[in-house]
Amino acid sequence: MPKHTILRRHVLATAAAVAAAVALPGVVCAQAPIVIKFSHVVAANTPKGQGALRFKEAAERILPGKVQVQVFPSSSLFGDAKELEALLLGDVQFIAPSLSKFDRYTKKIQIFDLPFLFDDIDAVDRFQSSAAGQSLLTSMKNRGLLGLGYWHNGMKQLSTNKDKLTRPEDVKGLKFRIQASDVLEAQFRGLNANPQKMAFAEVYQALQTGVVDGQENTWSNTYSQKFHEVQKTIAETNHGVIDYMVVTNAKWWDGLPADIRKGLTEAMKEATQHSNKLADELNEADRKKIEAAGKAKIQKLAKEDVAAWRKSMEPVWKKFEGDIGRDLIDAALKSNK
Ligand code: LMR
Repeated sequence: MPKHTILRRHVLATAAAVAAAVALPGVVCAQAPIVIKFSHVVAANTPKGQGALRFKEAAERILPGKVQVQVFPSSSLFGDAKELEALLLGDVQFIAPSLSKFDRYTKKIQIFDLPFLFDDIDAVDRFQSSAAGQSLLTSMKNRGLLGLGYWHNGMKQLSTNKDKLTRPEDVKGLKFRIQASDVLEAQFRGLNANPQKMAFAEVYQALQTGVVDGQENTWSNTYSQKFHEVQKTIAETNHGVIDYMVVTNAKWWDGLPADIRKGLTEAMKEATQHSNKLADELNEADRKKIEAAGKAKIQKLAKEDVAAWRKSMEPVWKKFEGDIGRDLIDAALKSNK
């Protein structure tokens, strides 16, 4: 074989090998699923825990081989103090903080913490579905956060380590754990109690050791965290709501291929319906389990007692009306029937 032919073959073979070497990682990359981390702070057997698991199942079914969703419950990846920062840094792609935990990013979402604003969870749902409620999902985009939907938990009840919990006077001077929310802080100050902002993962121990005397939460969170085992009385106040906004990193989301974004949107819709359908059921079942456990007494309240709590808490509305906007408050009030 002439020398130049050998040389040409060699050059071609080398070029082919280089092309394969360059192409191969590209091929592998295109096939590797996008890993999506979903971190949250509650137990798996709660409305949010179940919603996250359904999102994983639906996303991996709708986008087979294209995405892998990893769910981290019970603050096992990030707790309250870190999860929003972690999302903005790209260390996690989905979180679903309670609506009480966004006030560093927007003052508008504080609306959900106004005590006795919503009559029940159906009213909350109607407000979230309204144009005003939906507009809040994109209200933090300039801060890098995009809301993809609301998930329900339920109405809050008040609990303490005291026997008597029927009237606002009964919490005077008591220490309460609250979520990181200025509205909730004002709510407890208005009751002459001492609020203390604290991450969810620390609440059980704080109640057990007497660092705080009480807290406010849903039946589902109370049961799954065993708060009822370290509290004496839970008053059925239904004075507020714990619901969630599922948020993602806006830049990451906008940078996804269109088919992935579409599939994840579909999966989120399915997870939202699932979680919201379960929320009432789980809360009701957990209320019964707390009753059956017989550790904390469930205190039913007379109409006049509820009216007294309302009267003591409602001044908070005026304090935050300027930040939230009267129009938004009116839109929320319209959702009560
Ligand atoms: C709490 O901190 O009490 C709740 O927001 C926890 C949760 O995510 O339901």
